[in-house]
Amino acid sequence: MKNKSDKSREETLDPEDWEAMRALGHRMVDDMMDYMETLRNRPVWQHAPPAIRDRFSGPPPTGPELPQEVYNEYRRSILPYQLGNSHPRYWGWVTGCGTIMGAYAEMLAASTDSVSGAFSYMSNNYVERQVVDWCRQLLGFPQSSTGLLTSGCSASTLIGLAVARNTMAGYDVRAKGMHVSGKQMTVYCSEEAHSSVQKAVELLGFGNEALRRVPVTESLQIDVPALRDMITTDRAAGCNPVCIVGVAGTTNTAAIDDLNALADICAEERCWFHVDGAFGAWAAIAPKSRHLVSGMERADSLAFDLHKWMYLAYPVACVLIRDGQAHRNTFSLTPTYLAHGEGDRGLTGVDVPWLADYGFELSRGFWPSRHG
Ligand SMILES: Cc1ncc(COP(=O)(O)O)c(C=O)c1O
Repeated sequence: MKNKSDKSREETLDPEDWEAMRALGHRMVDDMMDYMETLRNRPVWQHAPPAIRDRFSGPPPTGPELPQEVYNEYRRSILPYQLGNSHPRYWGWVTGCGTIMGAYAEMLAASTDSVSGAFSYMSNNYVERQVVDWCRQLLGFPQSSTGLLTSGCSASTLIGLAVARNTMAGYDVRAKGMHVSGKQMTVYCSEEAHSSVQKAVELLGFGNEALRRVPVTESLQIDVPALRDMITTDRAAGCNPVCIVGVAGTTNTAAIDDLNALADICAEERCWFHVDGAFGAWAAIAPKSRHLVSGMERADSLAFDLHKWMYLAYPVACVLIRDGQAHRNTFSLTPTYLAHGEGDRGLTGVDVPWLADYGFELSRGFWPSRHG
């Protein structure tokens, strides 16, 4: 065992005074409980005045600051100026509010600096796989489907449309890129669909012009006959219609497209069926509203948030992909230093894919910590 003088010469990130650190942590928990318990006694939000904003400019600090002072700065300059979405009278958009257990779970995950993504035999990953499987069961996807927790529905849609593109292109997009596609690949969504669909289409190299905005009906749902006409016209013009995006709850009015009609068209036209169910997907778990999203369970990919109607702390969402192999084919790439599965059977002796095989990130936080 090292004596005190050895320890003082060590380079370490440990606190100098463990007891003071413990006391600071206890104070933070007490303060945060007070904050949440008294939330409804305060205005929903207040804007940060210019004097506060100005505190966040200037050069980097030249030396360390005491933890207590850093925390005081948080209380003074950050805590009072929140969006207010955790307030009971915040009715803007469709945001969630977080939970106390979610906040505690964040602390637990941060205390072990927990990493998910790689190393399938770590408990964090078991939790994530279980949460994805719960979502799969609740939303009516088959057991063979796969999924991933993400930071938001935008990321989920990007993943869903990446699998759509690679599966429907008819050639190896990962190897060859988009320039050899020959026919222009086209994607369809209603004029009311969220901007994240356009972002995904742009990022994936389809180009915004390939995103066909289908007019909406009086009820602000996608106009199904107009969609059929657009696909016919595009085919006649030599395009390759690859994907239809249905919306289960538009941002503007919560309109839900006729998802069964879209699934039928996708089957007839051999298109990928993606559903953006950012908040509305969860109508599926309430017996009274389940019929509203009927047909969603027929999607090839489904993107939805957990930080909206499921009230988990930001940011957490999920994507489900019906064809698990197509999902893995789009993202799996294993450098030798991370060899696992597919030949190297790892510690468990079986080919267990890593979370990193299902998305574009390798290192990720322990997302299920937000499932408090
Ligand atoms: C219908 C719809 N789709 C996608 C998104 C994007 O979700 P996120 O903000 O979680 O990335 C939103 C956000 O409000 C939305 O309302």
